[in-house]
Amino acid sequence: MERVFSNTRCTFSLLSLLLVFSSVSSFTNAKTHNHDFVVQETKVKRLCKTHNSITVNGQFPGPTLEVNNGDTLVIHVTNKARYNVTIHWHGVRQLTTAWADGPEFITQCPIRPGGSYTYRFTISGQEGTLWWHAHSSWVRATVYGAIIIHPQQGYSYPFPKPHRESLITLGEWWDANPIDVIREATRTGAAPNVSDAYTINGQPGDLYKCSSKDTVKVPVNPGETSLIRVINAALNQQLFFTIANHKLTVVGADASYVKPFTTKVLMLGPGQTTDVLMKADQTSGRYYIAARAYASAQGAPFDNTTTTAILEYKSATSKPIMPSLPAYNDTATATAFTTSFRSLRKPIVPTEIDHNLFITMGLGINQCPPKTRPRNCQAPNGTRFTASMNNVSFVLPSNVSILQAHHQGIPGVFTTDFPAKPPVTFDYTGNVSRSLWQPTRGTKVYKLKYGSRVQIVLQGTNIFTAENHPIHLHGYDFYILAEGFGNFNPKTDTSKFNLVDPPLRNTVSLPVKGWAVIRFVADNPGTWIMHCHLDVHIGWGLATVFVVEDGPGPMQKLEQPPPDLPVC
Ligand SMILES: *[C@@H]1O[C@H](CO)[C@@H](O)[C@H](O)[C@H]1NC(C)=O
Ligand SMILES: *[C@@H]1O[C@H](CO)[C@@H](O)[C@H](O)[C@H]1NC(C)=O
Ligand SMILES: *[C@@H]1O[C@H](CO)[C@@H](O)[C@H](O)[C@H]1NC(C)=O
Ligand SMILES: *[C@@H]1O[C@H](CO)[C@@H](O)[C@H](O)[C@H]1NC(C)=O
Ligand SMILES: *[C@@H]1O[C@H](CO)[C@@H](O)[C@H](O)[C@H]1NC(C)=O
Ligand SMILES: *[C@@H]1O[C@H](CO)[C@@H](O)[C@H](O)[C@H]1NC(C)=O
Ligand SMILES: *[C@@H]1O[C@H](CO)[C@@H](O)[C@H](O)[C@H]1NC(C)=O
Ligand SMILES: *[C@@H]1O[C@H](CO)[C@@H](O)[C@H](O)[C@H]1NC(C)=O
Repeated sequence: MERVFSNTRCTFSLLSLLLVFSSVSSFTNAKTHNHDFVVQETKVKRLCKTHNSITVNGQFPGPTLEVNNGDTLVIHVTNKARYNVTIHWHGVRQLTTAWADGPEFITQCPIRPGGSYTYRFTISGQEGTLWWHAHSSWVRATVYGAIIIHPQQGYSYPFPKPHRESLITLGEWWDANPIDVIREATRTGAAPNVSDAYTINGQPGDLYKCSSKDTVKVPVNPGETSLIRVINAALNQQLFFTIANHKLTVVGADASYVKPFTTKVLMLGPGQTTDVLMKADQTSGRYYIAARAYASAQGAPFDNTTTTAILEYKSATSKPIMPSLPAYNDTATATAFTTSFRSLRKPIVPTEIDHNLFITMGLGINQCPPKTRPRNCQAPNGTRFTASMNNVSFVLPSNVSILQAHHQGIPGVFTTDFPAKPPVTFDYTGNVSRSLWQPTRGTKVYKLKYGSRVQIVLQGTNIFTAENHPIHLHGYDFYILAEGFGNFNPKTDTSKFNLVDPPLRNTVSLPVKGWAVIRFVADNPGTWIMHCHLDVHIGWGLATVFVVEDGPGPMQKLEQPPPDLPVC
């Protein structure tokens, strides 16, 4: 699709462009897709054992939604499971439709067992791969699926049409009920048990017990090019991904096109997607597709297993060739990958900034109050793990969603004093004094006027331990201007900003003991959570919320809540 951008336009031009596109699509061939999602218990056998897993329509992974840019989705979700559930359409902008975003207690109350809710939203200006997943407790361990967005009818990819398309959704499997795993950790205050396997399209693959006969096969014909869409749907782990002997040409990420670059290895944090072209240019045979952890936290336990599928040339039966994968702690390879992304299309990066935020992100430790039972304080030295942004550990409301409270003016649900900078300045990535390790708790949000231009410096901390955090912002794509290690220094690091062709994404890999800088225009009214996409960290409070006010125009106002919006 051709899009003509002018770099002299004002910052509202992105939205007006989207408006033009959505109105164009309304008189072209935009379709409405209706789906029923029944959340239910389903027997799923993996690693020799059968579990009553929560699935959508009995499928694991769940159904793939395939649409064109400009189409509308209407998804009727019925909860026949025994847990609260909500569904988030990860990366979908949800312009004016925040009620359909999904995170529990942020934009809606959960759909309770027996309840239902219909999500309605339009895809506007996004092409490539996104995905959907549950956004309540750890239900998303098994409740997830792909969203494939083709170019608008009549338009084509900005690269030669591939001969075929394949989907690789990476997941994480516990040989236990994942809800029991997180409940146990919530009770003890310790880190939850690590997973027992990673999966490709729901299957662990040849390197695990009782799994070989179900290993996923990806067929190719010699000489043909495949578009492979890779999604990291794992709960808690960044993953390296590779295919033996084959080069991967990255063409998109998070439903935005990028300037093509070639690599052997991808690294995806949970939440991220990467679209690659792969030419079947090797000797006819079978080659392993493999993924395993990029584990950046020193000394922390992690699942060190490897999931595989088989890239299978037509009628080949040979023993699959195994690729080598980077070392688990190979931050150099992860960084080389994440810094290779450039926008394909000319971006409209805000150059003037209205809100310049500096937000520290990392773990923490809560001392247990006297008389707490030791069984509830099982983090190191009788403490409980926590996490925070700018020293606030985010607490979800429990009786109404933040969006309802904002829309209906219900007081007492949140406060608007989330700090724009850390309350205390310290050597964020150095040896942090123990007196700084315990954050405060609160439901603090940051308010933005419609159309304001926002820069956020995300600064990782070395409290307890440093690690890479995949930071996801709902309701927006943002430009990633730069990333680096150590403490962000405005004097020396500002010159590193890429204002020419920075990538547009919805999830940024915040480097271990490092920083990243993002920008966006607050052109979507609603309440939008920004959180670490390692689910273990969400529960500990590694989140905050932006409340974006309505603008004056018709496409600048939050819609009225749907009549079937679940109540708490
Ligand atoms: C977590 O792991 C421990 C040790 O292996 C085990 O005893 C416990 O049952 C596990 N918890 C859950 C919920 O599976
Ligand atoms: C994975 O970790 C276990 C112990 O936690 C260790 O015994 C095993 O050798 C490790 N495997 C690999 C492939 O590193
Ligand atoms: C990575 O791990 C290896 C051993 O597993 C260790 O020798 C090396 O120092 C680690 N590298 C980094 C950068 O932490
Ligand atoms: C736990 O206590 C021991 C002994 O006082 C100390 O060496 C260690 O650093 C402490 N660990 C943490 C995480 O506080
Ligand atoms: C929700 O709970 C908060 C804190 O517990 C309370 O202040 C508020 O009044 C409650 N709001 C509603 C709508 O029940
Ligand atoms: C960090 O600082 C503490 C106290 O200031 C000190 O006891 C500890 O040895 C230091 N650790 C390192 C790795 O420098
Ligand atoms: C966070 O706030 C608590 C409570 O005021 C304080 O003890 C701690 O030092 C603060 N830490 C940081 C990193 O600001
Ligand atoms: C389910 O959601 C309701 C609010 O709709 C809440 O009161 C209840 O605590 C939730 N249940 C669980 C198990 O989280």
